[in-house]
Amino acid sequence: MPGGPEPPQRRPLLSVRHLSKSFGPVRAVDDVSLDVYPQEIVGIVGDNAAGKSTFLRLLTGYHQPDGGEIFYRGRPVRISSPRTSRRELGIEMIYQDLSLAPDLRVWENVFLGEERRRLGIFLDAGAMREATADALAKLGAPISPSELFANLSGGEQQAVAIARALLFEREIIIMDEPTAAISLGKVQEVLRLVAELRARGHTVLIVSHRLEDILQVSDRIAVFSHGKILRVVPNEGLRIEDLFRMMFESA
Ligand SMILES: Nc1ncnc2c1ncn2[C@@H]1O[C@H](COP(=O)(O)OP(=O)(O)OP(=O)(O)O)[C@@H](O)[C@H]1O
Ligand SMILES: [Mg+2]
Repeated sequence: MPGGPEPPQRRPLLSVRHLSKSFGPVRAVDDVSLDVYPQEIVGIVGDNAAGKSTFLRLLTGYHQPDGGEIFYRGRPVRISSPRTSRRELGIEMIYQDLSLAPDLRVWENVFLGEERRRLGIFLDAGAMREATADALAKLGAPISPSELFANLSGGEQQAVAIARALLFEREIIIMDEPTAAISLGKVQEVLRLVAELRARGHTVLIVSHRLEDILQVSDRIAVFSHGKILRVVPNEGLRIEDLFRMMFESA
């Protein structure tokens, strides 16, 4: 696990070069290159259909690229499935709709597909509940592991998904519109958790239409338009109108 007192590393954790993905005639991701460094938050902005979600899905193995390369710590990788992305590259994607199970409890959602067993057979509910409580406590999220997931607010559900990434020590956490479906009052809570992830040594890629959220948490911002990255800018002295202008300037 990264983090702790080491100085920031200069070598990219993840690099993509000339990545492309088309759906029929639509060039959803078109010759995209980007470096992502350890322990940074990269914000991704762009108009609807700019290719942001497709780009993220190439990193999580949900789609396969038509062309281009992905490097993890300098080594070329093929992300053949979401499982490869999670287990081999330590990438966890948190979807807006979360794809978690509403009728299960919080701890069951955290361990969904990753259940711990005793003697290889019996589910170790006690250990899983305890580990969930521990992860939620680390995040400072006051949620009971035994609560039904459906009873949580959108922001609390995001916190559970983030706890899952924390518990399995995913190095890179990818969030597609984490604040879109939650009440304004909970937005700050989710953004605090995003910053907490970085403080704990993780790297975060975050897509949002809420430019103020992106400006609040990101170290650098990649501006997408028509499948391309127009530019990547450090988040220094930027205002919403600057980002807005960049999103709509021609490539
Ligand atoms: N599975 C798919 N099949 C066909 N076309 C797709 C598919 N996924 C995305 N597209 C198309 O690719 C383009 C990029 O879509 P994408 O969802 O990546 O954009 P986005 O930047 O995430 O947009 P939004 O901000 O609305 O979420 C769009 O034209 C979209 O219609
Ligand atoms: Mg999208």
